Amino acid sequence: MSAILLVNGPNLGILGRREPEVYGTETLYDIERSIEKEIAERGWDLVSVQRESEGELIRAIQEHYYTVGAIVNPGALMINGWGLRDALANYPRPWIEVHLSNVWAREQFRHESVLAPLASGVVVGMGALGYSLAARALLSMAPAASGIG
Ligand code: DQA
Repeated sequence: MSAILLVNGPNLGILGRREPEVYGTETLYDIERSIEKEIAERGWDLVSVQRESEGELIRAIQEHYYTVGAIVNPGALMINGWGLRDALANYPRPWIEVHLSNVWAREQFRHESVLAPLASGVVVGMGALGYSLAARALLSMAPAASGIG
């Protein structure tokens, strides 16, 4: 069974309760279900990992090379997550970086992502919908890139 990997970094497990005016009211559970709906047409499964620390996220990526693609919201690790960047450099399938908020409309320190240059695409500022859009993108990319469908 093919699966896509959803990776969420620090402070994203409390979505729905975390600054809802910035990140919306949908929970990570809601987001997982909407991605599942999106990928059901291909018969893909979802493997969802949310961790507060970079090391645990790196380990999760290393353990899921078999997945057909990944959706990654690194949270604040976008700013200085060099170890996470190296882990994603070795991830063998397409992956999409997602940020719920429009990071370029926010503080200067959020304006650059150390991960984004390696991503197949980036979805920013679309709220929870961004995860579904990323899933749609993987549906179109992953078969061509991996031969797995
Ligand atoms: C975020 C944006 C980051 O700058 C922030 O640190 C987060 C959430 C987003 O989804 O908008 O934790 O990745």
